[in-house]
Amino acid sequence: MTPVQVSLVQESWQRVLPIKDEAAQLFYRRLFELNPQLQDLFKGDMAEQRRKLMAMIGAAVGSLDRPATLLPILRELGRKHMGYGVKTQDYETVGAALLWTLEQGLGAAFTADVRGAWSETYGLVATTMQSGAQTH
Ligand code: HEM
Repeated sequence: MTPVQVSLVQESWQRVLPIKDEAAQLFYRRLFELNPQLQDLFKGDMAEQRRKLMAMIGAAVGSLDRPATLLPILRELGRKHMGYGVKTQDYETVGAALLWTLEQGLGAAFTADVRGAWSETYGLVATTMQSGAQTH
């Protein structure tokens, strides 16, 4: 990712933070619309799940310019996801739901460049998580 893309993601995330609870609700609604079967994987409290997801995205966004700190955490998270029954193709569905949610939340601020930067970010996070799922 270029430094400009890192800034675009970090600045746009600041705009999502004040509405992060609504954004997380939108995200899961969209995810289960795209693939209703994914609902069965979530066994815990969804309010807690929304909080954890947004905290993890926030941590990833915050350390985009120093990814070394985050890589082992993401690999471990990916390993856990394999245990939850998450499949490789589910990462695509989650990516689509995430970009859709950002578009809803950011409106006109979700420019083509911002979308590209988020797409890159999600790709990095998902690839790192999947690599953790493979090596254990
Ligand atoms: C960038 C990608 C993702 C991030 C950042 C992320 C983040 C998280 C986090 C932080 C947790 C909580 C882990 C814990 O409690 O220790 C979690 C749990 C979970 N995630 Fe993800 N996740 C991602 C992708 C996915 C995908 C693709 C799926 C597939 C549907 C998925 C389904 C789940 C499930 C089923 C749980 C466990 C829920 C439960 O406890 O019942 N996640 N995720």
